[in-house]
Amino acid sequence: MIGIDKINFFTPNTYIDLVKLATYRGVDPDKYTIGIGQSKMAVPTITQDTVSMGANAAFPILEKKDLTAIDLVVVGTETGIDESKSAAAFIHQLLGIHPFAKSIEIKQACYGATAGLMMARDFVKTHPGRKALVIGSDISRYGLNTSGEVTQGAGAVAMLISENPRILAIEDTSIAMSENIFDFWRPNYSDTAIVDGKFSNEAYVKFFNLLWTKFTEETTYSLDDISAFCFHLPYTKMGKKALLPLLENESAGVKEKLLAHYDLSTEYTRNIGNIYTGSLYLSFMSLLDNQTTSLKPNDLIAFFSYGSGAVGEIFSGRLIEGYEKHLDTANHKDMLTDRYDLSIEEYETIFNKEIPKTDGIHSLDEEKYEKGTFYLSHISNHQRHYEKRQ
Ligand code: COA
Repeated sequence: MIGIDKINFFTPNTYIDLVKLATYRGVDPDKYTIGIGQSKMAVPTITQDTVSMGANAAFPILEKKDLTAIDLVVVGTETGIDESKSAAAFIHQLLGIHPFAKSIEIKQACYGATAGLMMARDFVKTHPGRKALVIGSDISRYGLNTSGEVTQGAGAVAMLISENPRILAIEDTSIAMSENIFDFWRPNYSDTAIVDGKFSNEAYVKFFNLLWTKFTEETTYSLDDISAFCFHLPYTKMGKKALLPLLENESAGVKEKLLAHYDLSTEYTRNIGNIYTGSLYLSFMSLLDNQTTSLKPNDLIAFFSYGSGAVGEIFSGRLIEGYEKHLDTANHKDMLTDRYDLSIEEYETIFNKEIPKTDGIHSLDEEKYEKGTFYLSHISNHQRHYEKRQ
């Protein structure tokens, strides 16, 4: 049995309240909070990037015995900080993982962390006793005053994959599909994504339907067997657009169970925004942290991963007895409640700050706002340098 032994997330300490943003933009706040389903949006300072967020997500869950057992570090990201060097190479060093490990980055929009998870599962299968660290870390940016503005966000998820996992056993049920489309993309020369919002919604729902049909044919699972769905969530309404049509002819009991669990799984995204590659696994943590007694050991969870461009995958996993003892629920909730509430002016100033691109040494200081354990402290002749806050 192989799967998720430990899991954690990190989001920057700064956010913008979306009622405040809607009022400032002259939009009815209900459009953001009900129509799109978002309440708060993480806004990273320049000192939090894909590397520091990924390290911040992984650091609290790794013990000394993990650091000597991890032979593979995979970072899924679509907002990497270098076109050549992987974010994983930095994170491997920041975390103190032993030198004889491979550290790589995977890109396929929001699907990258799932590719990493499946690679990690196969790696552990062929390397008994060894472990793999999978991270999804991203900053979602569409630009100020764009239609995608309210669906931005930032954060990272880290998962330790091992034999005899203590949270989720991943089943051999995965079904994936690919199609070359332009629903969302970001050319190398742009730091904001280009999105055809309506088309991306349609593509997401189409992928879900095709994959679900094939998944049920190949596994013989039906909705009765599934305790909860976890979705990739660019915003909380998105998963519901896929789930609701599926429930139309189902019994009241099935509808009630799956919709109640859907709401629990969207709570963290509602307050953080889109974290791209980590989003699906943030939904999983939100579900586990916010449910009280409705999920039992051996319950079946279905996961829908979607990365624009596009690749999708559905797979399933079973909860392990005692999983709730291995979650850091209190710290997850504290991280969200203790954040700094930005004014509009602070939000726009932070959003517009850019990493210096010239020779020389550039110190970066956002002490007023941020409190991540790892942060980007300076750029020295185009090299990023990170420090650890004691
Ligand atoms: N009260 C309640 N709901 C309201 C409202 C109000 N006053 N005003 C609008 N709405 C609803 C709309 O009816 C719509 O609901 P629906 O989607 O269920 O039909 C929703 O709010 C959004 O309105 P819409 O006019 O479609 O918003 P928009 O053109 O500004 O775009 C997105 C919204 C989500 C498409 C846009 O933010 C976007 O492109 N985001 C990025 C999408 C993405 O990440 N795609 C990747 C998929 S993986």
